[in-house]
Amino acid sequence: MSPAAPDVSGAVPTAGEDGTAGMRVRLSGLRAIVGEVSSPARTDAASSGRGADPSGQGAMVSARGLCKAYGSFTAVDGIDVEVRRGEAFGFLGPNGAGKSSTMRMIAAVSPPGGGELRVLGLDPATHGSQIRSRLGVCPQEDTLDTELTVRENLLIYGRYFGLSRRHVAAKADELLGFFQLTEKRGARVDDLSGGLKRRLTIARSLINDPDLLLLDEPTTGLDPQARHTLWDKLFRLRQQGVTLVLTTHYMDEAEQLCDRLVVMDGGRIVAEGSPLQLIREHATREVAELRFGVGDHAEVAATVADLADRVEVLPDRILLYTDDGEEALAKVHERGLSPVAMLARRATLEDVFLRLTGRTLVD
Ligand SMILES: Nc1ncnc2c1ncn2[C@@H]1O[C@H](COP(=O)(O)OP(=O)(O)OP(=O)(O)O)[C@@H](O)[C@H]1O
Ligand SMILES: [Mg+2]
Repeated sequence: MSPAAPDVSGAVPTAGEDGTAGMRVRLSGLRAIVGEVSSPARTDAASSGRGADPSGQGAMVSARGLCKAYGSFTAVDGIDVEVRRGEAFGFLGPNGAGKSSTMRMIAAVSPPGGGELRVLGLDPATHGSQIRSRLGVCPQEDTLDTELTVRENLLIYGRYFGLSRRHVAAKADELLGFFQLTEKRGARVDDLSGGLKRRLTIARSLINDPDLLLLDEPTTGLDPQARHTLWDKLFRLRQQGVTLVLTTHYMDEAEQLCDRLVVMDGGRIVAEGSPLQLIREHATREVAELRFGVGDHAEVAATVADLADRVEVLPDRILLYTDDGEEALAKVHERGLSPVAMLARRATLEDVFLRLTGRTLVD
């Protein structure tokens, strides 16, 4: 079924380069893009998550030597990734690491520059629209139609997939409830806060009951409570069998949500594993943090270096990597040093990230 309104534009899953970044396309173009897609056709094969994979065993995403270049610049430099059915998989990495470029290739809106890529068992080069019909995509930048209301955004997006009016209306209301947006259903998107827009973008990505949900920095800009609410929603979706692939700069988010993750840097994968595996492999059990006066850190670090397996000097603190943080702090005191502040804590993914990329996770 084709969408009825002839002259409505909006942010949609497009086939063009960087489509997830918000390309606005007229409906006639959309028919070409999602033309083969129809919701009822999903019900048997796709909604059971087995459309292209009757055995149900295959990877949801499989990449081998995947590359992406923009002109002479290589943004993604030969990565191998395998996302299994039903898992939550994360891409971590500093700004410019190549996360979004990878997500756009998986979303079948940006052609790979090299290597092999299969999404839902299909080749994006030949089955792009089939793949897109079974994906939910939440791009890094919101691509909502700001002129329309909250509910209209969902309705129109659903119609792009060729879903019936009745189906889309019911699904839209369900999603508004799920994401606690029902009260805002008639509000213009322009008038929403950043956090509400983010929730709506994620709600919109679910309008077609996707098997695979791609979330590029889903909670950036959300307040802590909204983040926790969203984690809960994502957790529930996973329980319902939706496979999640997400990028994030929040290490607590990655620890909470991801079964497995990769750390990317400079277009390459520098580590891979479960959060716990990565912490065990790349950090000590505990970390002692010391804060001294501004500018003192490098000098002081040299005098405590022998107290830890490894020392990291940051602009605002010194990190001592050791299996016993309290013991390290006691020894710092024994040496007559008086930090302005100090604490001992367990190592986290943040420490792994710092070790592997040499950067903290500040945007
Ligand atoms: N369309 C484009 N044209 C040219 N260069 C691009 C394009 N998209 C991304 N890049 C470059 O490719 C590199 C990787 O960008 P990408 O957006 O994939 O990084 P990222 O890991 O998502 O970063 P962030 O955490 O800041 O979102 C960056 O250096 C970026 O400037
Ligand atoms: Mg990005």
